[in-house]
Amino acid sequence: MAKIIPLPPSRSSVEGGRLKQTPANQALNPVATPQTFFTEGELPETAYYADDRSMIFKGDVIGELQRLIDSGIQVDSIVTSPPYYGQRDYGEEGQMGLEAHPRQFIDGLVEVFDLCRRVLKDTGSLWVNIGDTYWSGKGAHKSGEIKQGARRFGLRPQDRPGDGLWARPKQLLLIPHRLAIALQDDGWLVRNDNVWVKPNPIPDQVRDRSSMSHEYVFHLTKNRWYYYDRHPVGRKMPSGSILPPLDTWITNTARGKSFHKATFSEDLVRTPILATTPPGGVVLDPFNGSGTTMAFARRHGFRSIGIDISEEYCDIAADRLKAIKDRDDEEA
Ligand SMILES: C[S@@+](CC[C@H](N)C(=O)[O-])C[C@H]1O[C@@H](n2cnc3c(N)ncnc32)[C@H](O)[C@@H]1O
Repeated sequence: MAKIIPLPPSRSSVEGGRLKQTPANQALNPVATPQTFFTEGELPETAYYADDRSMIFKGDVIGELQRLIDSGIQVDSIVTSPPYYGQRDYGEEGQMGLEAHPRQFIDGLVEVFDLCRRVLKDTGSLWVNIGDTYWSGKGAHKSGEIKQGARRFGLRPQDRPGDGLWARPKQLLLIPHRLAIALQDDGWLVRNDNVWVKPNPIPDQVRDRSSMSHEYVFHLTKNRWYYYDRHPVGRKMPSGSILPPLDTWITNTARGKSFHKATFSEDLVRTPILATTPPGGVVLDPFNGSGTTMAFARRHGFRSIGIDISEEYCDIAADRLKAIKDRDDEEA
């Protein structure tokens, strides 16, 4: 039996001691995902890694999302960073991000997030971190030198001749904007286009435009009313009142001891997870990588599910979760 998570009612929602059942109030009390999904049956049995609060599935995102849909599990929030267009070769057949034309990349992501919508509760939120790419049309680099660290590999899609329109030398592809509009056209409500401002961007060697130092973190919902608690993430005013967070997030990129070539900074998952996941709720990352979303969720008392096509990254994420669980068990 699903149980209702008790949350303190807001003052305006209480009338004569009774809770008004408005859609807004109902959204603040989502039905809890039964714990049995994590402990019994097909999901934990087929997971690459499972413990009482986390499950990692190794495989293509479409097939693994379908597995979640078939099981009937529903999550409270989805916090993810898909592969960026033409930026990295993860060395896996079926990986996303290396499609010949950016339109195919956008169409593929719309399909993924359409499946995500079926796993997300009606009160849930989807958060997507994504950056942009320039078309180059210059062909494969010949120097053999690794340009921009791990970002440069062989012939990237944007090094091909292109279509002369979107795909034209020096063109900024506007991938984040195109994705947000495509998702809007597909029925999502776009609530914010949060801008991640990077004070320490990867240097790009250009002379005729500004250096790129931002990405986007889109906040999208299925419905007008959804779970959102500004208190853990808001700005505390001298009067004591809490204003919502700003839509510009100034934070460094995760570097140095990062496990993954494109690791999330924990600062990027903080607001999404804390504001839109109810206590004990479930967070999903369909492009899990090294498991930053899951690790943050676990450390803050949430349950989580991750999907990734790469065995190497599934292992890294599983090791991170095991270490947190072992620490929790020792402290208990
Ligand atoms: C930008 S990274 C995610 C990084 C992650 N947020 C972290 O903190 O480490 C994108 C991930 O998507 C995975 N990926 C790419 N194509 C995929 C597919 N078709 N199905 C599942 N995972 C895929 C890659 O293996 C990679 O780990």
